[in-house]
Amino acid sequence: MIYSFGNILEDLQGKQNAVIIFIEKGQKILSREARELPVAARAAAQELLATGDFKGEVGEVGGVYPGGVLRHGSGLKRVVLAGIGERKFFDATAAWKVIATAAQWVQNKKQDAFTLALPAWFVTKFKPEPLGVLIAKAVGMGTYHFDHYKTDPERKSLAIKQVALFGVEGRYRRAFERGLVTGQILADAINLVRNLGNLPPIEMTPTYLAKEAEKLGKQFPKLKVAALGREEMKKLGMGALLGVASGSQQPPAFIVLEWMNGAKTKKPIVFIGKGITFDSGGISLKPGEAMDEMKYDMCGAAAVLGAMRVIAAMNIKNNVVGLMPATENLPSGSAYRPGDILRTMSGKTIEVLNTDAEGRLILADALCYAKKYEPRAVVDLATLTGACAFFMGPWHAGLFSDNEGVARQVERAAKAAGEGVWRLPLLPEHTKAVKSEMADVKNIGGKISGAATAAAFLKEFASYPWAHLDIAGTAWTWNMKAEPWMRAGATGYGVHLLVELARTL
Ligand code: BES
Ligand code: MN
Ligand code: ZN
Repeated sequence: MIYSFGNILEDLQGKQNAVIIFIEKGQKILSREARELPVAARAAAQELLATGDFKGEVGEVGGVYPGGVLRHGSGLKRVVLAGIGERKFFDATAAWKVIATAAQWVQNKKQDAFTLALPAWFVTKFKPEPLGVLIAKAVGMGTYHFDHYKTDPERKSLAIKQVALFGVEGRYRRAFERGLVTGQILADAINLVRNLGNLPPIEMTPTYLAKEAEKLGKQFPKLKVAALGREEMKKLGMGALLGVASGSQQPPAFIVLEWMNGAKTKKPIVFIGKGITFDSGGISLKPGEAMDEMKYDMCGAAAVLGAMRVIAAMNIKNNVVGLMPATENLPSGSAYRPGDILRTMSGKTIEVLNTDAEGRLILADALCYAKKYEPRAVVDLATLTGACAFFMGPWHAGLFSDNEGVARQVERAAKAAGEGVWRLPLLPEHTKAVKSEMADVKNIGGKISGAATAAAFLKEFASYPWAHLDIAGTAWTWNMKAEPWMRAGATGYGVHLLVELARTL
């Protein structure tokens, strides 16, 4: 995607097919930047406002067609009105959604280029650099499409080729452009994560994930990548990961990404992502309804991969490690069973009472592995519990931590990234619920407080400052429903948040 600055009718490869303008709630007169439009276009937009048919509600989009293209000679075919609601409620999240929605609207009209006419107060309100980040992220994410498996060319979306920006004063351009570059890197990584999530599980195997990581290592030589197989896991004593993997024909992988680009003496931050490439539940088989969505059970791992890509692309001066335990969870004659007791890398034993609580098992071994880095902090991301998804919905990931400092850092990073997190309680009672009669801990904690007992289970394996994000509700769109700003499927949640942590922690 190419961004350019200039005149409102900046030549977009000879096409002047759409200019997006922003309208506040109840606005009756075009704002200043829109007055730069050709007469016919201005008149058409003004007429729509005067009728009151366009309310300017946040997220509302309307198109007007100036006509008389030949007469006024500008060639501009569409003016797209994007409602922003009341100015006082128009925050970064709203701006992101509005721009993503408008961009997708234009793309749905089979256009691959457009102009964004920005009101001057956007720049002062959001500041030039963050506004650049926000715009590139919104356009990139809003127009993301996963059309690889659609054969009807009519149903394929166009890739946006060019976006012209109007309304950024010369003195703000450098900062703004810096923001655009960052936003584009983020959007590209987020969209890669979405691709990985949306791929069918027959393709998106642990091996595929490992290959993707190795590709990243080739692209960024300072990023050290290793993928451990069954034999190495055995040597390390990763009995929990191997237990989950035992039912699958697909070889598991324990993927390690090391980015040591900070001071030699500085202890690294470790990110861990749950990488279940398909979760059938195993012998404790899930019901059939929406089981397809369990291909997204690797979104935590994919988010870690995406974040590491951004960290490398931005050459972030810090020491960061990404760990991705990856396997399928399938039932078979060789599968692990309820009643089995698994020995983790730390030596702690786990009684399996439900093979569908597999995420915490593979994370247990990853949390043990992380110890070797003597990490400053460890943050894990996992589509861990249905309980968390149903309680939080698609709006927040559940944040669990016994460390105030790390919890606060995660909250701050999430805010900067525009990603929702909400801290949930982690009590001694939750820890008690996962004590086992047969082994050290058991992998389910009873009927109540399922997200917290899962977190308490993880805590048993975290012997350093640690936080856990349950992203079960945020990793893909709710019920696979599309939104005007986000197509159905994986969302790429967590990438930006982790990058913020890597930048600041
Ligand atoms: N991957 C699922 C969690 C999940 C379920 C995420 C639905 C999003 C939507 C996880 O492995 C799982 O199956 N968890 C169980 C735990 C239970 C057996 C204690 C769950 O939440 O039902
Ligand atoms: Mn499960
Ligand atoms: Zn799972």
